[in-house]
Amino acid sequence: MTQRQRLGVNIDHVATVRNARGGDNPDPLRAALAAQDAGADGITAHLREDRRHITDADMAAIAEAISIPLNFEMAATEEMQSIALKTKPHAVCLVPERREERTTEGGLNVANDDNHLALYIAPFKDAGTRVSLFIGPDDVQIAAAARIGADIIELHCGTYCDAVAEGRAADAAQELARLTSAATYAHGLGLEVHAGHGLTYDSVRPIAALPEVIELNIGHFIIGEAIFTGLGPAISEMRRIMDDARASDQA
Ligand code: PXP
Repeated sequence: MTQRQRLGVNIDHVATVRNARGGDNPDPLRAALAAQDAGADGITAHLREDRRHITDADMAAIAEAISIPLNFEMAATEEMQSIALKTKPHAVCLVPERREERTTEGGLNVANDDNHLALYIAPFKDAGTRVSLFIGPDDVQIAAAARIGADIIELHCGTYCDAVAEGRAADAAQELARLTSAATYAHGLGLEVHAGHGLTYDSVRPIAALPEVIELNIGHFIIGEAIFTGLGPAISEMRRIMDDARASDQA
């Protein structure tokens, strides 16, 4: 029986809307609590170096108030390490970050930075915080993640999702094959496998069906959909498609 897949809801873009005007509305903490009530299995938030959406105060308030796991996304900087160690989230997810990018555009290059990253994650491991690395579906990166002692890899689905959105079926199939083989390889090395970035109702099904992928982190599409349907129904619909994809895969 395939394990139920967890849905982590990323609430960064509630803060994006708030920050467009300044002031307090809409409140990402309220969104995190609403997502929790709607059945989210975790909350993901990215404290970016430029604080373009989530702020330090948001992260602290969310960590304090929610009863489901917090996945603290961050760049591997000293500043973020110190904030995250104080925040004590369930997990940290290390992502590459460039100021000029609109969103996280690629995965971490763990293989090129393994000595530094091994030292960087040590205090989190000592504190009992799970360490996730956001990487592309690349065996060299996956092997490096296992070698340095990461607990989790989150596979970057952006290239696959772009191909689906742009109707490039052959590219989508090729990317899905890469993600499938990466998930199997990582699972075989004892890594917990998550996936995320760019997932929508249209693209989530094959990723949800991958048995080794036990968590998806989804933000932008759910928050956008919430404008039309409300956050609870948007989360429920994503949950329904994920459950259906996993059940169909068993049939
Ligand atoms: N996972 C990681 C590591 C991310 O950086 C992001 C984007 O912040 C997401 C998941 C969520 O992506 P999206 O907002 O496109 O659903």
